[in-house]
Formats: sequence, structure tokens, C-alpha cells
Amino acid sequence: MRSSTALFHGPADIPPRKRSVLTRLQRRFLTQLLAVPILLLSLLSLCCLCYYQTLPPCAHPATLGVVVFAYQRPASLQRLLRSLDAVRFGDDTVPLHIWVDHSDRDDAWRVAQRWPWRHGPKTVERRERHHGICESWLHGLPSFLNTDYVWFLEDDIELGVPAYAAIRHGLLCRSPPDLPGMVLQRLPEVPTGAAVHFTSSWAPVFRTAYFRNFTEWVARRRQLAPDFRPFLPGHDRTFNRWLREERDVWSPWLRRFAFEYGHVFLALGDTTLVVNHREPGVHYTAAGGISGSVARPTHRLPPAVQSRLRSPSLLPSPLSVWECEDDGSVQCTPVAGGQEALWWRGHRDRQEQQLD
Ligand SMILES: *[C@@H]1O[C@H](CO)[C@@H](O)[C@H](O)[C@H]1NC(C)=O
Repeated sequence: MRSSTALFHGPADIPPRKRSVLTRLQRRFLTQLLAVPILLLSLLSLCCLCYYQTLPPCAHPATLGVVVFAYQRPASLQRLLRSLDAVRFGDDTVPLHIWVDHSDRDDAWRVAQRWPWRHGPKTVERRERHHGICESWLHGLPSFLNTDYVWFLEDDIELGVPAYAAIRHGLLCRSPPDLPGMVLQRLPEVPTGAAVHFTSSWAPVFRTAYFRNFTEWVARRRQLAPDFRPFLPGHDRTFNRWLREERDVWSPWLRRFAFEYGHVFLALGDTTLVVNHREPGVHYTAAGGISGSVARPTHRLPPAVQSRLRSPSLLPSPLSVWECEDDGSVQCTPVAGGQEALWWRGHRDRQEQQLD
């Protein structure tokens, strides 16, 4: 009996002083043990709070796919992908497709291949012959992409962290029927939530069906009017000049499509969600791209923009319509008569040029 009691080291055997020392140690240990998860939890809820400030839940957001155009600039592609990786996508599934234009170097292709993508399926496709910028865009929709919207990124683009929050909240949660896409380029004069008659190749988002319509329109126009070139009133120092110089540009075609039918796109105004680095060898610079200082993309949506994005009246009816001309620098002014006036102007132009 005596030996079995000696083997039993239960609390009853410990003298009272020693017992209290142990419990104090235990208590300290327990407090520390609890403090870590409590701290983590409160940090997490703080993060969620910040996160949902820019991304309030919406029941069924439309889906978005990302399409990247890469060429032989592995460092640019890396910078773009790094910034894309830092963009907050929440729990949304966003497929990524990377086109790598044909060249005799394969370093950009290797960057594209190796880059991990956490938000959905990733596909990389190398063009079998050189496309250049115009044909790259016109054949930019991967045939298998079945998302509602598509976000196009050239490799000299850098994105801001809240870019997706803005797209999701402005476009995907609303799917506005009159707006076939969104312009992410900063347009300081334009109010957040205005519709702009303007197109930008800086990370634009389009309804996939709209972009398909556009490429089909180009193909039809080229077939029916082989000599047609997409000149645009008021753009003699940019689009029209590049066309006269026969540069490899695609943007005049989209701008012309929008002009003929009076299309308008959602704009966020004075927010730098995207910058274009216009590096040497960049298609845009080669095309005589617009000069201007390169800012940093923003890390946080300004509070005024956040509250506009959360507001049910972001897109008033009728839309507030602005027109931006890009003849060396971008100038935006409100359009008297709104979208209808734009449509009639395009219609008249089509008739005068006998394009219908
Ligand atoms: C695409 O074109 C068709 C036929 O012209 C039109 O009905 C449809 O609304 C267009 N879709 C978009 C998103 O522009």
C-alpha cells in the first residue's frame, strides 16, 4: 500500500506552497496561450473590416477572367504579375490566361510558366507566329474563356491593390446593362460612377460578349471595306497620326467602334488604380504613346470613392455621360444630350461615310 501511494503524484501529494507556485505558472502559461489566438482573431477581424469596407458582399457577382499580353520583356511581366498577385481578390475565382507573343527568346514564356496563380486556373499560350500588338488584342479572347467579363493587361502595366475591389463593386456586382465595360485609367475631371465615351488600353475591363462583338466588327469592316482606316475626329496627334504612320496599334479600332455606336464605359475618376510604365520597346511607346509622369498605383481607395462604390446610386439613371478626347493629353467634358446624342453622332458619321 505504502509504495503505491509514493508512485501517485496527484495534487493531493504536493505541499500547499508548491501547489500555488505551479498554478501560478500554469495560469501564466494559459494566459499566454490564450493571448495569441485572441490577438490573431482581433487582427483578423480588423482585416476583414478593412477588406469588407472596399468589398461588401454581393450575392452573385458576375465573373471575371484576366488576360495578359506578354512579349520579350520578362522583367516587365514579372512586375505586372507581382502587382496582380498583390491585388485583393477575396474568395472569388478568377482564371488567368497569359499570351506570350512569338519571339526567338523564351525568358518571358518561362516567367509566365513558372508564375504561381492562387485565384483559379492558369493557362499560358505561346503564339506560333509573331502577332504584334494589334493582332494580339484582336485575337486576345481565349476561345475557352467563359467568364462574363474580361480584364486585359499588357505587360508594362502595374496594378493597384484595390483594382479588383473597384471592378467587382462597380461592375461585377451590378452588371449595368448600358455599360459594356470599365476604364481603369485615372481621369481626374470625371466623377466616380460617370459613364465615359473614352477607351483606354490601360487594363480595361469589357463584357466578354462586347469584346467579341468588337473583334467581329473589325473583321467584318476589314472584309467589306478593305481600305477603311479607323480615323477619329479630334485625334490628329494620337490615333490618326499613328494610323497615317501605319504603326501597329489596336486602340484606334476600339475607339472607332465606340464612336460609331456611342458606347460609354464606367469610370472611377480621380483614382490611380493602374499605371503604364511605357518602357522602351513597349508597343505603346513604339506607337508614339502619350507622355506623362508615371505615378504609383494606389494602395487604398480614397474614402469618397469607397462610399460611392458602396452606394446603390453609383450609376444614376440617366447616366452622367462624359466624353474624353486624347490628343496628346486626356481632356474630359460632360456630354450634352448624354448617350443618345453620342449614338446619333456616330450614326450620322456612319451614314456620311457610307459604312452601314
Ligand atoms: C453584341 O452584339 C449583338 C448583336 O449586334 C447585340 O445584340 C448585343 O447586345 C451585343 N452585346 C454587347 C455586350 O455589346
